[in-house]
This record gives sequence, structure tokens and C-alpha cells, in this order.
Amino acid sequence: MYQYRNVTDDIFWVGGNDRRLALFENVHPLHHGVSYNSYLLLDEKTVLFDTADWAVGRQFIENVTALLNGRDLDYLVLNHVEPDHAASLEEVLLRWPQVKLITTAKAVQFLGQFGFHISPDQVDAVKEGDERSFGKHTVTFVSAPMVHWPEVMVTFDKTEGVLFSADAFGTFRSLDGKLFADEFDFERDFLDEARRYYANIVGKFGPQVQALLKKASGLDIKYICPLHGPVWRRDIGWFIDKYAHWSAYEPEETGLLVAYSSMYGGTEAAAELLCAKLAQRGVTNTHLRDVSTTHVSELISDVFKYSHLALASVTYNLGLFPPMHAFLEDMKALNVQKRTCAVLENGSWAIRAGALTRESLAQLKEMTVLEPSVTVTSALSRDSGADLDALADALAASLKA
Ligand code: FEO
Repeated sequence: MYQYRNVTDDIFWVGGNDRRLALFENVHPLHHGVSYNSYLLLDEKTVLFDTADWAVGRQFIENVTALLNGRDLDYLVLNHVEPDHAASLEEVLLRWPQVKLITTAKAVQFLGQFGFHISPDQVDAVKEGDERSFGKHTVTFVSAPMVHWPEVMVTFDKTEGVLFSADAFGTFRSLDGKLFADEFDFERDFLDEARRYYANIVGKFGPQVQALLKKASGLDIKYICPLHGPVWRRDIGWFIDKYAHWSAYEPEETGLLVAYSSMYGGTEAAAELLCAKLAQRGVTNTHLRDVSTTHVSELISDVFKYSHLALASVTYNLGLFPPMHAFLEDMKALNVQKRTCAVLENGSWAIRAGALTRESLAQLKEMTVLEPSVTVTSALSRDSGADLDALADALAASLKA
């Protein structure tokens, strides 16, 4: 049975929700599923904006077929050809073989790499600033390379102010029958997943996102239709402001992520005592996470949220504890920057975790490391309290500044 929703009188959501996928991109855990959004314009011509992941392919095709109601599909605009959006292309071509593809030249190359060999006659390759009219609706194309792949463009419907934004402004989490962000308590139900999606999927490409935001600021946007998550029609500026912070690597909040790795509880105790000492100093926006049991995508999301970061690692095989090493590597891969950090280390012999943590942080841009660092030898001792007091003083002063 089809299930579609009106975005405007002429534009419809025709996507699907996937609640079975455990790992997005086979990496990032999905706690509440994900939606694959596709949109259909019914004008003098019929125009589909992107397809959907094959996991929801039957639902997607049923939605499109129901809305077309016997009409042909004239155009398919492909803003992004990663398979979570282009995998149903073959099915579209089988059902509506005359459809003309409107996309970028780079996208055609990628489609070929994924095994979709499209005849050049069937492609209308567009570039920044090109326009196409479908009757009442005229759209213009805006290049958005690396948001999140090189071929990406976004499409702006000038007639109704609808931005088809590709992965930009997307989120994890399924839609569950609703569509618009204002049909949810977005801040309560979606913001953490939106941040985790942004930070881990697009976070590396902050400058490119900033470039897109700059171009978007010149458009009279009334709706944002991303490829994942809710459609925006109210308070659009609130969500754009989140993107402005995330893409500039500016924290959303003054607060502290305390990420620790601990084998037998010594480092964990030190991290917790640091939080207690901060609470005694009036600092309570602290968030204690075990890197062994917190997925790195969640840690990265917290790093994008908070201004301060304390890393407490045990030494392991003369190096960093593997999950802490992976977290630091992911921070580097995703271009994390502009944070104030504290370093704690532990070990029973040949303690190296602190030096290695500092080396990793030194590879990131504009990271400030507070003094002093704290060294724990196996477990907290009488001396540890004074060291942690000194670090808590420095953190509290910085967090209250
Ligand atoms: Fe949702 Fe970059 O694909």
C-alpha cells in the first residue's frame, strides 16, 4: 500500500523508512532507523527528485506509481548518487524507460562505477546556475561538492521556495508517519541524531558546508527537503544556525565531555572524581563516557556539541588503549578543531598515554590543552586528589570564562 505526504500542493514525499538496518554505512548504529527521502513534483511534467535505498525500494516505487496514476515519469533529478539514494534507479528505468536524468557529469561517472550504464542521450548534465522549467515550476541547480560526495548538487524550486538539499540538513531516525520537523519535538527527539548524522557523515567537510550555506543565504527558502529525516517549513533559521555552528567547528554549548578508557577501574575512578570536583566548583554540564562502551559516532557527536573535552586513557601495549586511539583517529579524520582539552593518563609501568594523547591533539587545528595533566599510577592514591584539584581548577576557570 502506498504512503505519501504532501510537502506543497504539487510536491510530495515518496520515500520510505528503514527500521531494520543496524548500521548506517555499515558503521554507525541506528537506534531508531532512518528515512530515505524522495520527492515527486506533479506539474505539466512529472519530476522525481532522487530515488531511495533498495531496502525501501518496493514502498518507494508503490508511492511514485500511485501518485503518477498512469502518467509517465518525465524527469529524474539526481542530486546525490550514493546508493542510499540512487540504488532504486534501475527499477525506475525499468518502469519509466523514457525518463530523462538531470544530474551532474560527475554523478554520471559514479553511476557507471556502480554499474548503472546510462545512455548519454538520456542524461541532461547540468551545472551551477542552470535552470529547468517543468510547467509552473522552475528549478535552479546549485553545486555542493563534498556535501557529502564530489558529485553532489542541491536543487532549488524557485516557484515554491523548496530546497532539495541532498544530505545537507539530514538526520538519522525514521519518520514514523510524520514528515515535517514541526510535527515532532525536534529538539527532544531528533537533535542528538541530527548532530550525530552531521558530525559523522558530513563533519569532515565543514568548509564545503559553509560554502553551501553561503549560497543558500541568497535563496528565499520556504521548505528544506533533505534526503534523510524531516522536512523543514518552520523555524528553518534555527536548524541552519545549528549547521552554521557545526560546519565552523564551533561548539553548541559550553560543556565538558569526559571520555575515559579504563581496564580495571582506575582511570574510570579518576574521570569520575574529576567530574565530582567540577561539580563542587559549580560546573555540572559534564558528560562522562566510557570509550569502550560508547560508540565512537556518539563520542564524535558529543565533541561537536561541547566546548571542552577531557581525555583519560590507560596505557595499553605501550600505546593508547585501542578504543581511545580509534576515537582520536576519528577526531582527526573528521577535522575536529577549536576545543579546549584536558589530559589524564594511567598505567602501571611505562606510562605513555598522556604523551600520545597530546601528540594526537597536536595534529588537530586550534586545540588548547590545559595544564596540568594528571597521571594516575594504576589506581587513585592520596596524591591524586591534589592533581585532580589543580586540573579541576583549570577546567572550571576555562568553562566559566
Ligand atoms: Fe545519504 Fe551521502 O548519502
